[in-house]
Amino acid sequence: MSGEQKGGLEDVVVSTSGICFIDGNEGRLVYRGYDVNELVERSSFEEVVFLLWHGDLPSRNALAAHTRALTSTANRRLPPKLIDILRALPRRTAPMDVLRTGVSVLAAFDPDGGDNSRDATLRKSIRLTAQLPTLVAAWERVRRGRPPVTPTPRLGLAGNFLYMLSGKTPTALAVKTFDVGLILHADHEFNASTFAARVTAATMSDVHSAITSAIGALRGPLHGGANEQVMRMVEQIRTPERAEDWIRKALADKARVMGFGHRVYRVEDPRARHLRRLAGELGRQVGDTGAVEILDTVARVVSADKHLHPNVDLYSGAAYASMGIPTDQFTPIFAISRVAGWTAHVMEQHGNNRLIRPRADYTGPTRLSYVPADRR
Ligand code: CMC
Repeated sequence: MSGEQKGGLEDVVVSTSGICFIDGNEGRLVYRGYDVNELVERSSFEEVVFLLWHGDLPSRNALAAHTRALTSTANRRLPPKLIDILRALPRRTAPMDVLRTGVSVLAAFDPDGGDNSRDATLRKSIRLTAQLPTLVAAWERVRRGRPPVTPTPRLGLAGNFLYMLSGKTPTALAVKTFDVGLILHADHEFNASTFAARVTAATMSDVHSAITSAIGALRGPLHGGANEQVMRMVEQIRTPERAEDWIRKALADKARVMGFGHRVYRVEDPRARHLRRLAGELGRQVGDTGAVEILDTVARVVSADKHLHPNVDLYSGAAYASMGIPTDQFTPIFAISRVAGWTAHVMEQHGNNRLIRPRADYTGPTRLSYVPADRR
């Protein structure tokens, strides 16, 4: 790398943004000026979506209209042909593959397709945010050979998603926990998937293309895929009694432990403690706190030995598992929430656009002469 650059664009400021602020030394996460800790206590995911898109908290009437749009069956429903496509996919298809494919298909059916104006992009963002939970839940049903559950306008985004997964009304604690999880994952500045969305949007491409790019970037285990890997680790450890020896051996083998470390936070990720508390409460409600106990032991050892702190992905999976959600759906759930931030960033990028086109520090030769194949 040239000059002082550390690779991976570490500490490189790509552009200005008014959406999300992270103080990595203080462990603060702020959406549009509001501390996420306060939003978790006092707000709802629907309200946070409004905040991210429009820049401030809504009036009571504006919130009611916005919530109606996000919860209306017309906006949540999937085109029947998309359900046909889901039924045609092999049942072993990874949910993140289904999500990426599904968003591309939704673009084909969107009534605002081809219109990249701010108003059209906002309408498409409303539909995408309303449709993604339906898509994730529909795939869960289809791959189990069951019919998708029709969304119900009487439940908010969190409650309706859990309802569409099982067909049963979820407990209040499950809905609250899921809603908090959605708030905590809604945005995170220029993380890899958001950057991917912005790079795509900066060519003046459409919001569905940008979200498809973002889903591809979110999938990897160094980003959104980490929450699945954390639960795979819990499954391997099996019991709290085995956790300390297991993690000490993993660290001795120089393993990368999922759910720890962060490019920006130098202290504990502020999102982790909320999810730890809620995963514990849910575990107690369903009578199984094993996963949280395992993760607590892992966290104690990793913090002491490696000075690495838990990130958002350490405890989220334990909470989702207590709700009966399969492990390979954890990253799609991350996307259900992050689509709010991705779309906010697409609108911000379109509003003040310049093509994102960095340079490479070329390290290869520059003046070779072509040699015909029969003389090489
Ligand atoms: N386990 C073990 N060692 C680690 C870990 C970890 N989870 N994270 C960082 N390190 C070590 C790493 O080995 C390196 O050590 P050394 O300097 O001796 O080679 C040092 O810390 C710096 O690591 P890095 O990979 O250069 O740091 P980065 O800023 O490129 O990586 C990260 C950030 C999040 C990719 C990394 O911490 C990681 O791989 N964590 C595990 C995956 C994970 O939990 N990802 C979710 C991130 S939060 C949610 C999200 O944004 O999606």
